[in-house]
Amino acid sequence: MKRKSVGIVGAGNVGVAGAFAIYLQQLCSEIVLVDLDKARAEGEALDLMHGQGVTGRVKVKAGEFADLALCDVIVVTAGAAQKPGETRLDLLNKNAAIFKTITAELDQHAPNAVIVIASNPVDVITYIFQQLSSRPHSKVIGTGTVLDTSRLKTLLGEHYDVDPTSIHGYILGEHGDSEFAAWSTINIGGVPVVGNEVLGKAYDQQVIETLYHEVKDAAYKIIAGKGYTNWAIGVVIAKIVQVLFSDRASIHPISVRLQGEYGIEDVCISVPAKIGIGGVEQLVELNLSKDELKKLRQSADILKKNLASIDL
Ligand code: 2OP
Repeated sequence: MKRKSVGIVGAGNVGVAGAFAIYLQQLCSEIVLVDLDKARAEGEALDLMHGQGVTGRVKVKAGEFADLALCDVIVVTAGAAQKPGETRLDLLNKNAAIFKTITAELDQHAPNAVIVIASNPVDVITYIFQQLSSRPHSKVIGTGTVLDTSRLKTLLGEHYDVDPTSIHGYILGEHGDSEFAAWSTINIGGVPVVGNEVLGKAYDQQVIETLYHEVKDAAYKIIAGKGYTNWAIGVVIAKIVQVLFSDRASIHPISVRLQGEYGIEDVCISVPAKIGIGGVEQLVELNLSKDELKKLRQSADILKKNLASIDL
């Protein structure tokens, strides 16, 4: 009987945070860690698997690309991470080169797996993987602004003293400096945030704008403090893996290929998409405000400009 298996390429801070979140939630039967640093992958696998006496059985092993052949989902976190003050797009040339090799290896050893890209700049890397891989675009997903949307819900939850999972709506666009809050979609328990008193709190545009900027710049602040980010993106990776395996067709702001939606062509960017066991099933076309649509298109233009600089 085929058991659920997840591969993680890149056993660095993000990869192991994702592995830990998957493992803790028992989302699969086996996790395979692949990293150029084999000793690190071995060490992380051993350290993770020794918790099974407490968490229950999730086999964790280190392996090569060939060991990913039976993986249903493969998360790719490999590549350089931002240094203090560096933007995600600054990583493009370095990480694009790595992905030519990774894509070829995964097409050879795991051509049918659903791929979840977490490496930055995630939107451009997702597009590059789609272009280089023979698998359908729908089977190549970027973590996109799921993380940023979670950050916004967290900060709004603190401000309004409410569970962040009772807050709905999205950060859209690039997972990066050109992302924006689609305030027309953001509501708390069904009450739109903009212009309304919510849970006894009057609407304060200044506060809301400040929260958005805290979200947009969150990674810079965390990296300045601890040198990298990993725990929240790790939880996001596990959520996407859970959604894929549950096949519930739920909707999340992942980085997907647009082919005309929102008047945008030929770029990967975060918009709400319905996800099933086989990857992206359908894109949701929101009724964005004129200003929001303009921001989405501006973000897409920035990503396309960066894409144009890469020799695929
Ligand atoms: C983050 O936003 C660095 O993209 C990563 O945490």
